[in-house]
Amino acid sequence: MKNFSKVSKDWWKESAMGIPKLITETPGPKSKTMHANTTRYMKGLSSQVKLFPVCFEEGFGITLTDVDGNKYLDFSSGIYVTSLGHCHPKISEAISYWAKKLMNAHDFTTPVKEKLMEKMAGILPGKLNAIQLYSDGTVAVEAAIRAARAITNKHEFISAYRDFHGKTMGAVSCAQMYRGETYSYGPTRAAGFYMVPRPDPYRPLWTKADGSIDTDSYIRFYEDFLKEGTVGNVAAFLLEPAQGWAGSIFPPEDFFPKLKRLCEKYKILLCDDEVLAGMGRTGEWLTLNHWGVIPDIVTFGKSFGNGFPVTAMVVSEENGEALEKISASSSYGGNPMACAAALASIEVIEEEDILQNVRLVGKFFMNRMLKMKEQHPIIGDVKGKGFLLGIELVKDKKTKEPFDEAGKLVYQKAFRKGLAWIPAGHILRMSPPLIMDEKYASMGMDIIEDAITEVEKEFGYQ
Ligand SMILES: Cc1ncc(COP(=O)(O)O)c(C=O)c1O
Repeated sequence: MKNFSKVSKDWWKESAMGIPKLITETPGPKSKTMHANTTRYMKGLSSQVKLFPVCFEEGFGITLTDVDGNKYLDFSSGIYVTSLGHCHPKISEAISYWAKKLMNAHDFTTPVKEKLMEKMAGILPGKLNAIQLYSDGTVAVEAAIRAARAITNKHEFISAYRDFHGKTMGAVSCAQMYRGETYSYGPTRAAGFYMVPRPDPYRPLWTKADGSIDTDSYIRFYEDFLKEGTVGNVAAFLLEPAQGWAGSIFPPEDFFPKLKRLCEKYKILLCDDEVLAGMGRTGEWLTLNHWGVIPDIVTFGKSFGNGFPVTAMVVSEENGEALEKISASSSYGGNPMACAAALASIEVIEEEDILQNVRLVGKFFMNRMLKMKEQHPIIGDVKGKGFLLGIELVKDKKTKEPFDEAGKLVYQKAFRKGLAWIPAGHILRMSPPLIMDEKYASMGMDIIEDAITEVEKEFGYQ
């Protein structure tokens, strides 16, 4: 089996010199024309693209280049995907090697799959080592739902308000439903899928006498809900460890340990959807590692292949038999290119000490955001761990009324200043590549702060 060599940690730095570099207005003339041509046919774009219709042509490290030659600092990693930098040389080489040697062999074993399985078993906690591979996060979540049913012989699922798990029927039944302009057509949640509130420290439903969030009340509510709101056949709590789409919302430290105890009491599985937050984004392989909790089922995606579509669903060894029962394999899952991308990505995280970088630069991000919160009347809250970050904009710090209009404007202004990113609504979400150092972290935050200041002036706050 061919091994691909380690590259210097600084592989991306030369290409980042002088960014952001804007040589036309943005989106530039070529971007506008190409976007217009494309959208004559291509429909259903995300709100971010509609608000800033730029066309990208190249990505390397932390730099994105558009078709007009403008260079942007990347604060989104695609969409939490290219977390080790665009076109990481080792990962690209590994994918192209297998693209020329063997693209698909159904789910037969290949040398690169053998290596990936060993590698994954080595980084996963506890006995999480019965693995299946897919090509979408959503499909990994669907497989997790089927596996949970097979393991428990139960069929009900509990997820949480504002969680996101994908867009197929099972996954969307565990997720925030689309509302307003983008409500979903047809049936909403499938039968047997329930949502409960989960603790958001900035907007708590239940607080203790000192005003801090009261995790125990959430857990008591869940226990009550199990008795009153279900038919007593709950297979799993299926949750994001931290809510990515909702705006980088992290639960209090005691939430998952207490939830896990509740699950054990009622023989319910804890299914941890790490598609967005896993593989180093918060400074750990699994975000649940921060709280010492080992889930029963875990899903990975996005960063897992650093841009190549490869995802995984993993259950613990003693439940591995369930994967036989659900006929777990698929057409593209675990093809050699996919395995090569995931294997090389894990090796890069180890070789470049990425988890440590995320912890260190993550602290820098948090300190900077805390300072910004003190200085800006429209910043209600800042949140995050590692490189999964959010700044919540409000009209008034006391009422905490969400400031959606400001969110949109800050997004567009920062993009115009050369920051490629993907906030949504009133929470400015940031997911920079995990290779980023303090210099560029600071540059990105300067751009965002300038944009916030301008928006505050426009709305009469300064
Ligand atoms: C937590 C989580 N789970 C699942 C998914 C679905 O992944 P995909 O878009 O690869 O199908 C997403 C996508 O954003 C996600 O954030």
